[in-house]
Amino acid sequence: MAVTGIVAVSENLAIGKDGKLPWHYSSDLQFFKKTTLHNAVVMGSRTWEGIGKPLPQRLNIILSRSSQIDERPGVLHFRNTESVMALTEYLNCDLFVIGGDKTYTSFREHITRWIVTEVPLVIEDADTFMPEDFLDGFELLITEEGDEDLTIKTYGRK
Ligand SMILES: NC(=O)c1ccc[n+]([C@@H]2O[C@H](COP(=O)([O-])OP(=O)(O)OC[C@H]3O[C@@H](n4cnc5c(N)ncnc54)[C@H](OP(=O)(O)O)[C@@H]3O)[C@@H](O)[C@H]2O)c1
Repeated sequence: MAVTGIVAVSENLAIGKDGKLPWHYSSDLQFFKKTTLHNAVVMGSRTWEGIGKPLPQRLNIILSRSSQIDERPGVLHFRNTESVMALTEYLNCDLFVIGGDKTYTSFREHITRWIVTEVPLVIEDADTFMPEDFLDGFELLITEEGDEDLTIKTYGRK
């Protein structure tokens, strides 16, 4: 069971604006779907609100201390990272940490692999950014040239 962070990030480390992605790249959405399908995804309540519905054919785990998360099939609500990690002991699939920034930070010590889509844009007016040091302690394993001028890099722990 691997814990993988998956993120699309601009040249200035932007990841979000007004609760949404600051861009639309259909090839990256396809890549995200193909990569995470039939696994578990964990997201923060803000990203959950932005997506608006469970991601199909994945176990959707929503992290929130305070929000009311409505009960729906395929959706679990946890209040802390430890509870999510305890569940993964019993999962027969991988866990993908799909954001946003607060959630990546919450899982920082548990993430053993990062899949990073590099977006060739500078988003000056974004409101959510990755920390500059989020890949400290990781080494580049694979670089793939995607469609739409995107680059996908996979990192593992050194
Ligand atoms: N570019 C990308 O790849 C990507 C991926 C995902 C998201 N995004 C973007 O990122 C933005 C959202 O990021 P964000 O950092 O503001 O929010 P977020 O991580 O999606 O959600 C934050 C909320 O999650 C809950 N949470 C996080 N860590 C927790 C913990 N350890 N224990 C309990 N609850 C925890 C809290 O919910 P409560 O306040 O409800 O308690 C917290 O306020 C959006 O714009 C979204 O589109 C971008």
